[in-house]
Amino acid sequence: MPLVDMRDMLHHAYQNNYAIGGFGLVSLDFLEAIITAAEFCRSPVILNLSEPLFGQHDFRLILPAIERAAHQAKVPVAIHFDHAKQHESIVEAINLGCNSVMLDVSSQAFTVNIAQTSHAAETAHACGAAIEGMLGFVGGTEGENAINHLGEVIYTSAEEAKVYIDRTHVDSLAVSIGTVHGRQNSRTKLDFKRLKRINDELGIPLVLHGGSGLIEDQYHKVILNGIAKINCYTELSDIAAATIRSNVQSRTKKGYIEAMQDVKNNLLEQISLYMHRWGSAGRAAEVLIQCRAWQPVEQTIVYNVQKRYLQQIYALIEQGRETLSSIPGVRQVFAGWALSVSDQYQLCWRIQFATTDASKNFQSHAEYIAFIHQLSRISEPDKINITFAATSLGTNSCLEEIKIPQAQHLA
Ligand code: 13P
Repeated sequence: MPLVDMRDMLHHAYQNNYAIGGFGLVSLDFLEAIITAAEFCRSPVILNLSEPLFGQHDFRLILPAIERAAHQAKVPVAIHFDHAKQHESIVEAINLGCNSVMLDVSSQAFTVNIAQTSHAAETAHACGAAIEGMLGFVGGTEGENAINHLGEVIYTSAEEAKVYIDRTHVDSLAVSIGTVHGRQNSRTKLDFKRLKRINDELGIPLVLHGGSGLIEDQYHKVILNGIAKINCYTELSDIAAATIRSNVQSRTKKGYIEAMQDVKNNLLEQISLYMHRWGSAGRAAEVLIQCRAWQPVEQTIVYNVQKRYLQQIYALIEQGRETLSSIPGVRQVFAGWALSVSDQYQLCWRIQFATTDASKNFQSHAEYIAFIHQLSRISEPDKINITFAATSLGTNSCLEEIKIPQAQHLA
């Protein structure tokens, strides 16, 4: 069930004056803690995968687990790819299962930021995914001492933000109002007046980066002024590290399992605290009703071709597989022969798409059209073509709702 459209989720938070946590994760411990906290608090949640942290883990390996956890969750979840460094990263993120992306070109000139973000927004929207823009520069590096990586903090201008939104069509905007990424030594000062002006001007969900470690009153005020998503990783990373340090010092057994003891629980406690503080706790049911489900789509084509064309067509499909797989919104492309030679339809081709939008985008994509032309030049085979909504990933939660017929009815 609840992998949902991020736009609907943020819209609900924005309309109802609360914020959803975009919690950064770097391991399965973080993933389990975030999901368990969200279920425990009945809160919608955003799983943030941040490209600058990819030195710590292989996101291609962890994404299938994240996707599975999101589908099994009893609360609405979105998977967000944060701080993508280039356009190719957002295409890969969507193709691997993220349903929201952010291209971080905030350190570039205003016009360059607009041009690159517009391109990213076109791609994301063509696949049905949400996109977050960023204007102004939030310094620091998540998980580290902010002061070591500050750079020049550039505050977001409300006037520029209006132009930026009109031109890029992003769904939400990350603003710079005084926060920084990473650990801070002194209290952060926030420019609430600026935030209010931006919110009055735009009327769309706003995002706060550098959300770790503010005081309760600051969270309250930013949420009242349009912040609907708060990104947080440093605080969680510090809690996990402190727990491990304390375990290593205090426990007699010094193995990995002993060192990791209580990490999940301590993360869960802090995340739950944030969910209550930011007002997302208890909102899961109403959010779920309002959100479109993130629905993958599959296309299956089976061919009945004359035997003499079979090898040629199969070779072409094999060759086209790689090119077609890199089209935005294509999750996977499979091709294969029938195992039995007596089957009428001998060749099968199956494509998974992120959403219906992605499947429509695929049909009109230049690479696909060129491929189809090549295919029809060889032969015009008899084929069956079905596009259908795929539900396999949600099986566990769906099973709870399916009533299994009694044995006597089956007899
Ligand atoms: P913190 O470094 O304050 O946790 O912020 C993380 C963040 O904003 C990721 O985009």
